Amino acid sequence: MSLWLPLARRKSNIVKEMEKMKNKREEKRAQFSEIRNKRAQEFDSSCPNWEFARMVKEYRASITCQSISMNDPIEEHRICVCVRKRPLNKQELGKRECDIITVVNKNSILVHEPKVKVDLTKYLENQHFCFDYSFDEKASNEMVYWFTARPLVQTIFEGGMATCFAYGQTGSGKTHTMGGDFSGKVQKASKGIYAFASQDVFLLQNQARYKAQGLEVYVTFFEIYNGKLFDLLNKKAKLRVLEDGKQQVQVVGLQEMRVNCAEDVIRMIEIGSACRTSGQTFANSSSSRSHACFQIILRRKGKLHGKFSLVDLAGNERGADTSSADRQTRMEAAEINKSLLALKECIRALGQNKQHTPFRESKLTQVLRDSFIGTNSRTCMIAMISPCMNSCEYTLNTLRYWMKKYWHDSHFQISSGLSNFNAFDTKIDFFFSLFIKKVQLGAQWKE
Ligand SMILES: Nc1ncnc2c1ncn2[C@@H]1O[C@H](COP(=O)(O)OP(=O)(O)O)[C@@H](O)[C@H]1O
Ligand SMILES: [Mg+2]
Repeated sequence: MSLWLPLARRKSNIVKEMEKMKNKREEKRAQFSEIRNKRAQEFDSSCPNWEFARMVKEYRASITCQSISMNDPIEEHRICVCVRKRPLNKQELGKRECDIITVVNKNSILVHEPKVKVDLTKYLENQHFCFDYSFDEKASNEMVYWFTARPLVQTIFEGGMATCFAYGQTGSGKTHTMGGDFSGKVQKASKGIYAFASQDVFLLQNQARYKAQGLEVYVTFFEIYNGKLFDLLNKKAKLRVLEDGKQQVQVVGLQEMRVNCAEDVIRMIEIGSACRTSGQTFANSSSSRSHACFQIILRRKGKLHGKFSLVDLAGNERGADTSSADRQTRMEAAEINKSLLALKECIRALGQNKQHTPFRESKLTQVLRDSFIGTNSRTCMIAMISPCMNSCEYTLNTLRYWMKKYWHDSHFQISSGLSNFNAFDTKIDFFFSLFIKKVQLGAQWKE
């Protein structure tokens, strides 16, 4: 009996301790729930992801952001890689979507990736990406053009080749940037990169130093869908691609339209764009599964002088969809994947001045072959991203396709006032040795 007494006393102590702990826990829970409710009231809790939205807002408040401006210097790049974030659209604003992209300055952006711990605590993983230029949601098409395609116009007058690509998920703003705003009733083909580049071509053509050369301007507009070419200036006529003995690629029957002024070009863009989207509904849009290529060609007495190819690429999420049960969709996805990978390889080969360019890997690169070779060729890639939280995975894919991620960047910390970045070894997991050159060491870009 006496043996049991201390045990019983000890047991009651344990029970008391446990009760205390339980009470404390409940108190903490109540406190936490109160804080949560209070924050929800302070913040707009009708937003489904208000907790992440609050964290993003708080994070933004802790850093200084500065958008690119027209006064910023334009650097000379043989290959220029940029990013553009589009604004949330009306529908997304209506659904109170959470914007998880912060454009920090003209060179860098942050993706606030929403994450949940095993104990269900929500947190953000803030990932930092650097580009030659980055444009926020307020940047106009004019501004994007100014830094991206505009510096390339002169190249074609100097007898070179230029390419400008818009890459990104469907709905991220590729067509808006390249072709102009087609969302309203009035088509604004004059407000896209195709039209801006054409305007500058005519300006340069009339400058004294080029006028004497007697250059003629032509445009072509075609679509590559499932490895096949269709002429958008000739009612989507199917075109054949042939390669002659000298490895010159010929697109048989492609209409080259002679143009004399910017208005002529805008008409061509409108005809081609209408042809591209005709007979499609948004849900079954083949335009998101095709690459559209608009070319401005300079000829002297019929002989090719220079060519500027502006390409609105197929949605990159389409290439990811290789698991689809539908055979047609799977084939399309595989084709898109193949062409986007081949494109990356060709641009890499161009950057490294490699002898071999794997242009035969896809129709897209085969047709653009002459733009990838030759010493006087320049390329610009614009990665388009959507700001929405539910696009986060695709956004990260887009950024990783073009960029090497690094977390620790002294310049970034100095310029943005951020100092809480993890000093984490640079993860050079892939590619583009030329981009590796662009890693900022200190405050300097090393070219
Ligand atoms: N920077 C922007 N500013 C305003 N609206 C935009 C912007 N980018 C895209 N949009 C709008 O978003 C929608 C999808 O853009 P779109 O260019 O068709 O995407 P994609 O060609 O990449 O599929 C369109 O209604 C377009 O007008
Ligand atoms: Mg499009």
